[in-house]
This record gives sequence, C-alpha cells and structure tokens, in this order.
Amino acid sequence: MSIENVEKFISEFARSLHEETFVKMTLGNYKGADTHLQKLLLRLVETKKGTRLFFLYRYDMRDTAKNHDFTEGTKIIRELLGKDFFSGHLFTTENDFQLDIGKKDKSRLNVAKPTFKTKPTLEHNREKQVQVNPNAFYLKALGITTDRGEIRDKQQDKWRQINKFVETLSSLFDKSNLKDKKSLNIVDMGSGKGYLTFAAYDFFKNIRGLDVKITGIDTKQELVGLCNDIAKASEFEDLKFVNGWIGDYELQDVDILIALHACNTATDDAIFKGIKAEADLIVVAPCCHQEIRPQIKPPEMFRNVFKHGIMLEREAESITDGLRALLLEKSGYSTKLFEFISTEHTPKNNMIVGTKQAKKDDTEKIAEQINSIKDFYGIKEQRLESLLDGDQLIKKSVL
Ligand SMILES: C[S@@+](CC[C@H](N)C(=O)[O-])C[C@H]1O[C@@H](n2cnc3c(N)ncnc32)[C@H](O)[C@@H]1O
Repeated sequence: MSIENVEKFISEFARSLHEETFVKMTLGNYKGADTHLQKLLLRLVETKKGTRLFFLYRYDMRDTAKNHDFTEGTKIIRELLGKDFFSGHLFTTENDFQLDIGKKDKSRLNVAKPTFKTKPTLEHNREKQVQVNPNAFYLKALGITTDRGEIRDKQQDKWRQINKFVETLSSLFDKSNLKDKKSLNIVDMGSGKGYLTFAAYDFFKNIRGLDVKITGIDTKQELVGLCNDIAKASEFEDLKFVNGWIGDYELQDVDILIALHACNTATDDAIFKGIKAEADLIVVAPCCHQEIRPQIKPPEMFRNVFKHGIMLEREAESITDGLRALLLEKSGYSTKLFEFISTEHTPKNNMIVGTKQAKKDDTEKIAEQINSIKDFYGIKEQRLESLLDGDQLIKKSVL
C-alpha cells in the first residue's frame, strides 16, 4: 500500500484516454472544503472542438458541469486525488480500477475484469442531454422527479417542455449578440410555478457558468412564496420571484425578457416592457388569445368559414400572434414565430422570438401592413399596438 498506487491509477487513466479504452470514471469519498460536493463523474463527450472530458460535479442538491481537454483533465484529477477526493473508480474496456486512499499517504489499488467491454458511443448531442439536470433539487421540489431523480409518469410532458425550452433558449442565446456576455439579466413575466424559470437559471448558471440573475414575476403570492423557498433551498442565490402585475413592473435593465403562457394580453404587456427596456431577446409563448376574437368581423368571403367557432378561434390566434410579430419588427426586432414543442405535448405551443437589431426595418411599410390586416378583419384594438402608440404619444409630448 503506497502513494505509488495513486500515480498508477492516474497513469492508467491517462493511458486509457490515449489508447481510447476509457469508459468512465468516478471520484468519491470527498473530504474537501465544500460541504455540499459529493462526487465527480467523468465521461467523454463529442464537442465542436473534438472529444473532451466531461466533468460533472455532483452536489447534494445540484450538479455543475465543465468540459476539459485530456491534458487539462488529467492535471485536474492529479490535483484532486488525495487532496479532496480519496477514492477513484476507473472503468476501461480492459480493466476496472478501484483506488482507495487512506491515512498517511497509504493507498490500495484493486484491478478487476472490465465491467464494460465496449466503449459507449459518443453522441454529438450528448451535451444537450445535460442542459437540464434531472438530479436538480428544484425538479424534486416541484414534483417533476422522484427522490431518486426519475421523471414521474404524469410529468413526462412537462419534462419534455422544460427540456425543449432550455434547448431553444440555449440556441437563441448562442446566435444572439449576448453570446459572449459573461453576465446576464433575465426577467420571466408570468413565471407561475417557475418550472421554466428554474431550468433557465440552472442552465445559464451551472451548465454555462455565467453570472446570471433571473427575476420571475407573478400575481399569485402563494406561487411566488413557494418559488422563493425552493430557490433558497437550491442555493440559487440570484434567482428571485416577485409578486406583482406585469404591467406595473418597472423593468429597466434586461438582456432577455421571457413570458411563457402569460394569459391573454399579459403577453402584450410583457412584450411592451421588453421593447421599452430594449431587451436583446424577447421570448414569448402566448396563450388564451381572447382580445381579437370578439372583434373580428369576417369579410363576406369568409363568412361560411368563420361561422365555425374553431376556425374563428384559430384565425384569431394567428392574427394576434402575427400582429405581435409585426409590431416587434416595427420596434426594431427581427422575429421568428414557430411551434416550440409539438401539440401532442401541450396545446400552448407557439413561440414568438424577437431579437434586437442595430437598425429598424422600414417601419412605415410595416405600419401599413398592420393597418391593412386590422381593416380587413374589422379589428379596432390590439393591446400591444395601443401600448406602443401610447408610449409614442408620451415621448412626443415630452419632446
Ligand atoms: C399558465 S401560467 C404559466 C406559468 C409559466 N410561465 C409556465 O409556462 O410554466 C400563467 C401565469 O401567469 C400569471 N399571470 C397572468 N397574467 C399576469 C399579469 N398580468 N401579471 C403577472 N402575472 C400574470 C398567472 O398568475 C400564472 O401564474
């Protein structure tokens, strides 16, 4: 028994990387300063820069992850073994190695037959799978996962929605002007029970390692209280929930404005706040479109189509969201409107994304288009337009 075993373990680890026999590794028996850290799990991941070691630090209530190249990864393992972690389990396709470090530099290394005879396939999208960590405490607290980190049967749709949302947000962020920012300010309007707010925070903070601050706003005090309690228990220090109305919220400094399934015209209030605060990204998934439908006077040629309630309802939804996208464009945003998760999982699935542009498109042309649509359907008022017009009037009167 000696410290040589530690060196042998590290050199077997490095050799397995070099000879491509590495399967996975776990460091345990943590005795370092962080009272919450429990384990370090390593596997390979395929990234744009080539194959990397994926380090997953498992805490009691959350995980954090980082990729390293082989040299850097081996150096970190060398630093951690015998200082913070006192056991290691290396799986290669040739052997399993179990290292235990005891007192006074004594150590034991067991070599056994391999548990895995073939290497796991490296999926290119493997990184995507950890965009939402199923072991996160907030998922348990919100009832999505069991104590063992399994997704509850009844929560499968919610789980898919959370994953799809984070995947969408991650891709929008990477393509935006914000992509190189190290700190982010996000506001989620109509945050409800906070599933998506928590997932966004965990992703930007713990997976991307950014200095992120998120504020969720909702009128329901009991949900705000619950979410603040879970954020505290998760040690999500910069995630806060505030009780209030979207329309009353003083929004000043924001990079990403989110409003998911905020009821009816609350979506318009949120978009308006985002435009006013010059958010770089505005991400909304509208629901219950009630404003336009009673206003629509179907043109004669559509009378027999829109006599069917469902057709009128769908048309009202399309016009409402189409007008919102046009109003965003008129305000200097490029837009995307798409189905962000299949209707099989949720009926509320359209997403409108506005990305702030350096210069505005031809606003007069867009205004003409908006007016033509409203005239065609006999629409008198659309909330977002009224808010933007009101704001223009205030600006003009101040000048
Ligand atoms: C359907 S839930 C969606 C929750 C969450 N965004 C999600 O997608 O899982 C809508 C939430 O918006 C809140 N809400 C609706 N109108 C609001 C307003 N004007 N101001 C603040 N919150 C509002 C409701 O209280 C509710 O919790």
